[in-house]
Amino acid sequence: MRQPITLRINGQDYDIFVEGRTRLLDAIRDLCDLTGAKEGCSTGDCGACTVLMNGNPITSCLTFAIAAQGQELTTIEGLAQNGHLHPLQEAFMQLGGLQCGICTPGMILSAKALLDANPNPTKEEIRFALAGNLCRCTGYQKIVEAVAAASQRL
Ligand code: FES
Ligand code: FES
Repeated sequence: MRQPITLRINGQDYDIFVEGRTRLLDAIRDLCDLTGAKEGCSTGDCGACTVLMNGNPITSCLTFAIAAQGQELTTIEGLAQNGHLHPLQEAFMQLGGLQCGICTPGMILSAKALLDANPNPTKEEIRFALAGNLCRCTGYQKIVEAVAAASQRL
């Protein structure tokens, strides 16, 4: 049975109807039309579906939409402000931190959570913070360099 819930995403309220088993990833993508979060493994292993809940990275494929009520959610669509990309987005683009882009929204959101908590991380701390986000394309080095560069621009 469907029930009404409100999700707060990127500072905006979305009134939607979900079933108890509706995944947050599906609610965000299909019911709120925010398709930045990607589906990779569906089992909590790849990080492609990462969004921020109250500033912390979560795997939206393993989270029920009803559990996200009353929480502040951030998706990749919420990072650019006033037509300007977030410094992390700029750095990924400029330094080759992405290729196919499937991992990129989750990777950048995990990086944002890191920089919000630790504005000047070491490369080791960056690798640790991104350990839950898998990338099949880049070899990770350029991603780490992009996060390090962004930390100097914030
Ligand atoms: S799709 Fe959620 S962790 Fe892979
Ligand atoms: S850029 Fe393709 S999976 Fe990371």
